[in-house]
Amino acid sequence: MKEEEIICKFRIYDYHELTEADRLLVDKAKEATQTSYAPFSNFCVGAAARLSDNTIVTGSNQENAAYPSGLCAERTALFYANASHPDQYVKEMAVAAYAHGDFLTSPIPPCGACRQVILGIEERYNHPVRLLLYGKNGVYVVDSVKALLPLQFTGETMNE
Ligand code: THU
Repeated sequence: MKEEEIICKFRIYDYHELTEADRLLVDKAKEATQTSYAPFSNFCVGAAARLSDNTIVTGSNQENAAYPSGLCAERTALFYANASHPDQYVKEMAVAAYAHGDFLTSPIPPCGACRQVILGIEERYNHPVRLLLYGKNGVYVVDSVKALLPLQFTGETMNE
């Protein structure tokens, strides 16, 4: 028997410690929570992705009475980015969530399905997507979604 350990590395910043460019992206994600359609969960998520030409595209969660038919903020932003700017890779994405009248205290982690989609985009463009996960008590900065997704399934997995 062998045992393996996979370490998840990220940094925690105070919002004010971030660079101006990072703060702008976080602000855009916070703003995007206002376009959320979340009558079922009342959990409003916003995402802002900065592309390689520095365009910023945003998205928010869009819900449906048939719950799985809705989509998370991250995938709304990323699929829109890829559909409208297919030649640009995504450099980084900020995520924020607003519920019960305020932004969350702890950073919002992307769900498993969003992590898989971010991984697919990293593979497609051969470029890591830096993530800024906003919480009032700190912003988690992750250099690649791979840090959040151990034992990744990619297109390569099927060619082995
Ligand atoms: N949601 C996101 O938009 N992003 C996440 O990372 C987690 C969850 C949305 C989906 C649903 O509309 C609501 O939050 C509650 O799960």
